[in-house]
Amino acid sequence: MSDAIVESAAVTSIEAGSGGSRFVRACLRRPVDRTPVWFLRQAGRYMPEYMAVRKHHSLLEICRTPEIAAEVTITAAERLGVDAAIIFADLLLPFTPMGLDFEFVAGEGPVVHTPVRTLEHVKALRTDRVEELQYVARAIEQVATHFAAPRADGDELGIIGFCGAPWTLAGYMIEGGKQGGGDRNYIETKKMMYSDGAAWSLLMEKIVTVLVAYAQQQVEAGADVIQVFDSWVGKLSVRDYRQYCLGWTTELVERIKTLGVPVIYFGVETASLLPAMSETGADVIGLDWRTPLDAGWKAVGAGCAVQGNLDPIALFAKEDVLKEQVREILTAANGRPGHIFNLGHGIVPGTPVENVILVVEWVKELSALGVTQR
Ligand code: CP3
Repeated sequence: MSDAIVESAAVTSIEAGSGGSRFVRACLRRPVDRTPVWFLRQAGRYMPEYMAVRKHHSLLEICRTPEIAAEVTITAAERLGVDAAIIFADLLLPFTPMGLDFEFVAGEGPVVHTPVRTLEHVKALRTDRVEELQYVARAIEQVATHFAAPRADGDELGIIGFCGAPWTLAGYMIEGGKQGGGDRNYIETKKMMYSDGAAWSLLMEKIVTVLVAYAQQQVEAGADVIQVFDSWVGKLSVRDYRQYCLGWTTELVERIKTLGVPVIYFGVETASLLPAMSETGADVIGLDWRTPLDAGWKAVGAGCAVQGNLDPIALFAKEDVLKEQVREILTAANGRPGHIFNLGHGIVPGTPVENVILVVEWVKELSALGVTQR
């Protein structure tokens, strides 16, 4: 390593130390000693440790038992050596206190038994029982206690709380979950959105009310950052996103930011939506893998940090192909403050754990050396 590189690493590590966590500093576009890295769905079915826990407990049992949720969160973060731990929970947990029954059906994903289809249904949704979600906060407390001490390199691990975005949660509520994620047309959801303004507005308002209270519980318990998942926002045209969703999402983001934490706003198939998404005021925009990182960053503007954006399926590639993709993403970010390395969507079952660990090592190595700066 040249003297110049050693010197600049020393300066930035002092800065990183003073800010607690390089992950949080990167969210705020402050300088860091190297690019922070974590993965969407890092504690899931690809990991033998998770599957061992899953043998004895359902997904909802894991989510609702703070000791187990904390253990799963911690195990994944430590096994991978990442810079942030996302709390083990699910987007749909707030449905229960709102009065919507759901279950996870093997091979199908979430199913809501009585989908929300009318103004009367929306009126019946409760917003006064968010306290019932405190089990997530208790799990966050345990994770925060576990990671309270700085790591060997002086950096604190970031703790991420999360919730859904109004559009994506409304999609699950109205379709009933059977849309299977991103592959359907969201007909019922869009019908309400286009034709029943009163129901749609009330639904959005209720979702935002619940999510703000839920995010507050998570922040008070020790979450350093809140990520808002708008996984299926790519189903919307830019005009419909602006007309029916942007205002509500902006309100959610603004109100979470007043809790004193940065907000990461993430969606998939968002190339055309990125400029509008950045208008929410989110500190960080998550980029999927379809857009090159530098083009995505240009689209959200210099006022946002970005997170991404390796294709999760590239984790199945052979080592040299995978490493080249990691290098390309770091090169596209060019060492600019405000890049968090991640995937463009979640890790899928079957992903080789050793490749995930290799990516962490490469991100650390390549970004600390500055070899990916042009
Ligand atoms: O480390 C982690 O990221 C795990 C924590 C986590 C889960 N769900 C646990 C889970 C997180 C961050 C989520 C968020 C979530 N949940 C999203 C947004 C993220 C994304 O992928 O876009 C969404 C859309 C959901 C809703 C949901 N939950 C679906 C569609 C499914 C089925 C997915 C499938 O592949 O079967 C779930 C189930 C779920 N939530 C699993 C996990 C680990 C897998 C099921 C299991 O363990 O039985």
